[in-house]
Amino acid sequence: MSIELTRNFSIIAHIDHGKTTLSDRLMGATNTVAQRDEKAQLLDSMDLERERGITIKSHPVTMSYKAKDGKTYKLNLLDTPGHVDFSYEVSRSLAACEGALLLVDASQGVEAQTVANLNLAMQQNLYVIPVINKVDLPSADVARCKRQLEDILQLSADEAVPASAKMGIGIIDILESVVRLVPAPVSLGEDYLRASVFDSIFDAYRGVVTYVRVFSGTIVRGQKIRMMSTGLDYEVKEVGVFRPKMFAMDKLEVGDVGYLIANVKTTADVKIGDTVTEMRRPAPEALPGFKEIHPLVFSGIYPISSDDFESLKMAVGKLQINDAAFTFMAESSAALGFGFRCGFLGLLHMEIIQERLRREFNMDVISTYPSVIYEVKKTNGEEMIVDNPSFLPSVQVIEEIREPMVKIFLMVPNEYIGDMMQLVMDKRGQVEHTETLDDNRVMLQSLIPLNEILVDFNDKLKSITRGYGSMDYEHAGYQPADLVKMEMLIAGDPVDAFACIVHRSKAEARGRALAAKLKEVIPQQLFVVSIQAAIGGKIIASERISALRKDVTAKCYGGDISRKRKLLEKQKEGKKRMKSIGKVNIPQEAFIQVLKSG
Ligand code: GTP
Repeated sequence: MSIELTRNFSIIAHIDHGKTTLSDRLMGATNTVAQRDEKAQLLDSMDLERERGITIKSHPVTMSYKAKDGKTYKLNLLDTPGHVDFSYEVSRSLAACEGALLLVDASQGVEAQTVANLNLAMQQNLYVIPVINKVDLPSADVARCKRQLEDILQLSADEAVPASAKMGIGIIDILESVVRLVPAPVSLGEDYLRASVFDSIFDAYRGVVTYVRVFSGTIVRGQKIRMMSTGLDYEVKEVGVFRPKMFAMDKLEVGDVGYLIANVKTTADVKIGDTVTEMRRPAPEALPGFKEIHPLVFSGIYPISSDDFESLKMAVGKLQINDAAFTFMAESSAALGFGFRCGFLGLLHMEIIQERLRREFNMDVISTYPSVIYEVKKTNGEEMIVDNPSFLPSVQVIEEIREPMVKIFLMVPNEYIGDMMQLVMDKRGQVEHTETLDDNRVMLQSLIPLNEILVDFNDKLKSITRGYGSMDYEHAGYQPADLVKMEMLIAGDPVDAFACIVHRSKAEARGRALAAKLKEVIPQQLFVVSIQAAIGGKIIASERISALRKDVTAKCYGGDISRKRKLLEKQKEGKKRMKSIGKVNIPQEAFIQVLKSG
């Protein structure tokens, strides 16, 4: 098929605005049967994303559409993950397209994620077609959406297609718009092979499946290829497209989107954004936009029972084969034993991995408070990066600590703007810009430390705005800050699992809260236990747990035998789960409670 009849596009949308429903409709309208079984399976293993309202990324689909002009077009629909943790992957998928459908829920209007996604599409110079979805809803307000498209997004509302993915309204109009407005791919003009890698998955039977978009030349079965960033060479075993199942072809030509299978062992060897070229005749230059991705958030993951260390090692190893962005390294903690320091792209990515360890590998794990990466300049001029509070050098040798910042976009109803500004300031953010979106909503743009939004920011936003607020963010470099390491001492011994890096202005409050929490969860011992928060040896908060007086098992003697046995068993179980810190026994549950509450 000629390149003029190919259209590569993706759908970008805020969560729940109907991306999945629309994709299904487009596949239905083009007789590309949806692969229900596989989808159900994938969703089963990724419940978390479903619960969090985020669809896992699915593979691209090649559809064939006979348009009103009588010609049959090849339409490649690429999916994007739609969460900031994966914005590099989103950008690589978008770079493989010439156009995008910007989906807006007619009853909700433009949301924070819509703006952030549009920015990414604009950076790739995509032709953006707005689709106003859910027009069947009684609360749909198409006119308002059109005003927002023009005012907030500077898009032409004339081209906006009203639709209902659920009822099947406007589907053909959308396909016609794609054919008419999205530019056909342009060949880069010479015959070197250059294909960009925009995703990869690990298939238990077939190994790594690499998703590619061909920008020049052709990929054929049997060809020797080279990944330009790593210099590694492979032989192509199979090429093909998704219809939506994998469908083998003889070759992929310029403009095509599809997959290749070579003898690649793990997804870590396939770099997203890399350029595939021919081994014998390599292209002189790679395609632009490749970046090595590095984890931004770190946390220690430990087995609850130390016997499970080997199984945890196997589980994290397996997860990494499928997810090159996830990193791990063995580490040990005096309090938690042997575990792994793990790196993630962001908080959602972290939650996904932790949850998969629990659900898919049945691992009972405990994870330490997440940390961002700090840049530290020492007084001797040396620079270092710190992703674990335990490794922060002593305050005497630190000249400056810098922390990662993000630019955050918040969309909130007018009446909550005061409370939102307060929240931003409490989190050490500076409001940079506010903009009225429509009669009842405002967009706040603010520069805020990443560390401050890691744990509960989104929950707070939702509770302040009664669920109506939305947020998104992008990374915005590093800034110096007055940060200190706070340690928690139990009976005089520092507990590494509770050490954290905090802003000096917040250290005392956090120290007090942690001490109070620990007091709640550590059981009484036979002696008085002191709990202290300290910065560089100076105590900033303290609590004490009084000594245990009564023998709680006494009441059991003479009692019924089965109850007694149960109690003993329970005790045994409890003992196994105790960690002793110095002379104090702390139940695992206490760590979980404290680390969870942050
Ligand atoms: P995520 O991928 O999970 O972010 O969501 P999504 O954007 O893929 O949205 P999805 O297609 O899952 O739709 C979200 C909800 O909106 C579902 O309950 C759909 O049934 C509903 N929905 C989608 N399109 C329409 C529509 O045109 N009209 C109405 N009334 N509901 C719709």
